[in-house]
Amino acid sequence: MDSFLIKGGVPLHGEISISGSKNAVLPIMAATLLTGDPCVIRHVPDLSDVRFMGRILESLGAEVKFDGDTVTVHAAKVKGFGDYELIRKMRGSICILGPLLARLNQASVSLPGGCVIGTRPIDLHLKGLRALGAQLDISGGYINAKTRRLKGTTLFLGGRVGPTVLGTANIMMAATLADGITVIESAACEPEVTDLANFLVSMGARITGIGSPTLTITGVKTLHGTDHEVIPDRIEACTFLCAAAATHGEVLLHGARPEHFAAVLDKLREAGVKVERKAGALLVKACRTLKPTDVTTLPYSGFPTDVQAQFMALMCQARGISVITERIFESRFMHVSEMARLGAEISIEGPSAIVKGGRPLSGAPVMASDLRASAALVIAGLSATGSTQVNRIYHLDRGYERMESKLKKLGARIDRVDGE
Ligand code: UD1
Repeated sequence: MDSFLIKGGVPLHGEISISGSKNAVLPIMAATLLTGDPCVIRHVPDLSDVRFMGRILESLGAEVKFDGDTVTVHAAKVKGFGDYELIRKMRGSICILGPLLARLNQASVSLPGGCVIGTRPIDLHLKGLRALGAQLDISGGYINAKTRRLKGTTLFLGGRVGPTVLGTANIMMAATLADGITVIESAACEPEVTDLANFLVSMGARITGIGSPTLTITGVKTLHGTDHEVIPDRIEACTFLCAAAATHGEVLLHGARPEHFAAVLDKLREAGVKVERKAGALLVKACRTLKPTDVTTLPYSGFPTDVQAQFMALMCQARGISVITERIFESRFMHVSEMARLGAEISIEGPSAIVKGGRPLSGAPVMASDLRASAALVIAGLSATGSTQVNRIYHLDRGYERMESKLKKLGARIDRVDGE
């Protein structure tokens, strides 16, 4: 397994471009199953999760072509029975269920695997599909779904902690080909859901309320092919903002959409980081002394759970106490014990992490546990003195396009070390 070897203490300086959004492109690729026409998707990041989704679509009978940052999917004929092992391995694959069911009236998809950040239930996906008239049963690790034809309805999709992102994607996709009108209340409003809705509309779907908690979908008989450019990855942008600030650097981000991460910008400014728009790009400039800042993760447009770990790495550099509260996933503090190896002082009390920042970090070998935790460890390593080896970076490769080359371009001393 590959690892990163980081020699920290170098402020990041320079400019980079933000890649296409991983969390937008995965459901968009699934949505191509709704039509027999070819769909062209542009600004696609080169990530292992994206290639993996490509293999899943191929296993269902679609033709998938990668050409630079463009992917063409042609699902002329599809079968409703996905490869068990492939689908089980990636949580995002659950969103093939809605499109398959809508197109074929039946589908069998393996239950997505667990994940270290929490139990990741799918009860809301199932509730939504049942409300549309699907009969579901779970046996032998498969979700078996069938229907005579999906029928529009009004349903409340909110859960314990609010809306579900992939659940909203799944039900919205299923409803595009259902008979009649579907109203999804408490729909997720994340920009990735909006991007998917815009993709579906460009295929001929009839959706109103896009970007709001109430989505109204009027079913149509068929959808057609389209050509779509994926939104930039707001989580990648926020990760580089935190890295620049934590190393007291100055970085210009091209292609980011700051309106997609206003809550993070607000907290960065509260911490004393200067972020300003400059000729269509976003310039981040750290001040010498960062201020401690409290953060609570929330559904969009609140502070994203996917930036919690990276912001914690930044708060390790702020003199004083920051309280970081995780409200979306119950076990999303796996990075805390690894950051402690670098000398960070963080204690966990229920859903909150109490960070005593401002003590210098020093390099050590650490183990990445999940995608965003890995990014946080890279930021901590970049801001520490000495060498940090971040092991198991295959997690990072799932969600960050060429992270080490982008960091190198900014002057970081970081190398990929090949593992066996
Ligand atoms: C997506 C993102 C992930 C992000 C998360 C929250 C992708 C591929 N992944 O994951 O990066 O961290 O949104 O912004 O887009 N829940 C239920 N029942 C369900 C579904 C979810 O109780 O059926 C709960 C979850 O346990 C969690 C909360 O709802 O507590 C939000 O999860 P959800 O929005 O569904 O996350 P994902 O869509 O899986």
